[in-house]
Amino acid sequence: PFSFPLLLLLFLVDTEIATVRLEPVQLSVSPTCTGDNATIHCNHTKGINYFQMYWYRQVPGENIKLIVFTTTAKPDHDFGDFDKKKFSATKPDAESGTFTVENLEPGDQGLYFCAVSQHSDTDTCGTYFGGGTKLTVLDPKREITPPTVKVFQPSSKECRNLKDEKERKKTLLCVARDFYPDHVSIFWQVNAKNVTKGVATDPAARLDDKTYFITSRLRVHAEVWTSPGTNFSCFVTFFDGNKTIIKDETVFAVEGMFMWNSEIT
Ligand SMILES: *[C@@H]1O[C@H](CO)[C@@H](O)[C@H](O)[C@H]1NC(C)=O
Ligand SMILES: *[C@@H]1O[C@H](CO)[C@@H](O)[C@H](O)[C@H]1NC(C)=O
Ligand SMILES: *[C@@H]1O[C@H](CO)[C@@H](O)[C@H](O)[C@H]1NC(C)=O
Ligand SMILES: *[C@@H]1O[C@H](CO)[C@@H](O)[C@H](O)[C@H]1NC(C)=O
Ligand SMILES: *[C@@H]1O[C@H](CO)[C@@H](O)[C@H](O)[C@H]1NC(C)=O
Repeated sequence: PFSFPLLLLLFLVDTEIATVRLEPVQLSVSPTCTGDNATIHCNHTKGINYFQMYWYRQVPGENIKLIVFTTTAKPDHDFGDFDKKKFSATKPDAESGTFTVENLEPGDQGLYFCAVSQHSDTDTCGTYFGGGTKLTVLDPKREITPPTVKVFQPSSKECRNLKDEKERKKTLLCVARDFYPDHVSIFWQVNAKNVTKGVATDPAARLDDKTYFITSRLRVHAEVWTSPGTNFSCFVTFFDGNKTIIKDETVFAVEGMFMWNSEIT
């Protein structure tokens, strides 16, 4: 009954996203012999008319799937084709709910999120999504390892031949590598101030042998890269299962290189 791509779109553009909160945002669990469970909480502040809660999962490379529909109006939750031994949910009141994945195994990894709505018709305009919880089932054979971060300076050859000086851009490359699991995010600062313009980060970390790596690029005007005293920092946040660690590296503007280049072109 649901159009999943449409829902995904809503998830991305919805400006009221902050009214539906999921906790925790990151969850990595080491499976035990007895079977571990992962529980995610969803709360919202849309009011008591929003008493319906949906739980979705997105597994890498697959479409988003609705796992369960819960409502305070009925004690039975609708799991559709999903296994009730694998998933359980609670809906104690209109403004909160929980979702549990039982007996964790590697196939349970993915992004889980909740949505809330007022009534059961297919009017998706009234559906609000939470930000998502990334669940990783840790491989006991792999050690938890934070990333090492390296920032590579722009190539002196980049855009050297562009006629219009104003259009010249320089690209800094940040590489975070050798980490496990892949719970990372990257942000950049120029002179200790966050920047988002010109930033392009890989959509996901990639596996390289047994550990992950991810890259991010920051494109700045050539004048910025060559202005004396300017510094550029790449910050990589890593969630180790208990806490978030930040690793960073800073490089400094190279003075004069741009001028020198402009003289010889
Ligand atoms: C996981 O949930 C199941 C069903 O509620 C329960 O029997 C089991 O003890 C839980 N496992 C852990 C480790 O809490
Ligand atoms: C969500 O609501 C429940 C029940 O009202 C409350 O116990 C819990 O602390 C709330 N969690 C968050 C993250 O607000
Ligand atoms: C980068 O520049 C800012 C602002 O000038 C300064 O506060 C900060 O200490 C610099 N960072 C480093 C690592 O030099
Ligand atoms: C910079 O961005 C990061 C990640 O989005 C955020 O956690 C941090 O608070 C921001 N810092 C400032 C000074 O805005
Ligand atoms: C997280 O905390 C648990 C319990 O305190 C501990 O056993 C585990 O080693 C910690 N993991 C990391 C990566 O620090």
